[in-house]
Amino acid sequence: MTIGIIGAGNIGSAIAVRLGAKGIPATIANSRGPDTLAELIAKAGPSITAGTREEAASKDIVFVAVKWLRLQGALAGLDWNGRILIDTNNPIVSMDVPMIDLAGRATTSVVQDWAPGARVVKAFNHLAAPVLAKDPHAEGGRRVLFYAGDDEGAKADVADLIDQLGFFGLDLGDVESGSRLFQTPNGPLISHDFVKIG
Ligand SMILES: NC(=O)c1ccc[n+]([C@@H]2O[C@H](COP(=O)([O-])OP(=O)(O)OC[C@H]3O[C@@H](n4cnc5c(N)ncnc54)[C@H](OP(=O)(O)O)[C@@H]3O)[C@@H](O)[C@H]2O)c1
Repeated sequence: MTIGIIGAGNIGSAIAVRLGAKGIPATIANSRGPDTLAELIAKAGPSITAGTREEAASKDIVFVAVKWLRLQGALAGLDWNGRILIDTNNPIVSMDVPMIDLAGRATTSVVQDWAPGARVVKAFNHLAAPVLAKDPHAEGGRRVLFYAGDDEGAKADVADLIDQLGFFGLDLGDVESGSRLFQTPNGPLISHDFVKIG
């Protein structure tokens, strides 16, 4: 499976660092171009390369980690058909601004609309970036990552990747019910840092 990352800020960088720590190849992109990513590439290690948004989006599994107000634009004009899209996003502008109103929709169903044909799995969104960037082996166990989606094959591939990275993956079900458990707003599991012991 080839891997791309669209978004190289807090969350995109944390994912790149974790992939790099395992020597797993990935291409990461931001909006300003590959030349602006030298510092991150040096930190993440030789398996991580900088590319364009289109190059990152051409991979089998594509992490998307972009602030909500720029997310639709970052997804637009790309061929998502059959690709696995990992939705790491929450509909937040900033901590002091009220939550973006999605009229009660699951946030990942909105992302699905913006990336037609993608096999969307929500994951890597419930922890603060500095926690996600840390070694997932913690407190004698493995840090838990939740995932949810409607495509069982895509979820199995994301579960494999979560496991390869050293996290403990927990399948919470589909988008409509499961993803709401760890989404912002109102997800009871959002921000909690769980460790699976044993
Ligand atoms: N920060 C956290 O602790 C945290 C935790 C959980 C979930 N999340 C969610 O994760 C997502 C990302 O948050 P963040 O804090 O990582 O944001 P961030 O630091 O602002 O990074 C966003 C990245 O998106 C890139 N970007 C914007 N438009 C793009 C486009 N059209 N094409 C390619 N790249 C584009 C930006 O590139 P440029 O800088 O070049 O414009 C930047 O690298 C958000 O939805 C957030 O809610 C964040």
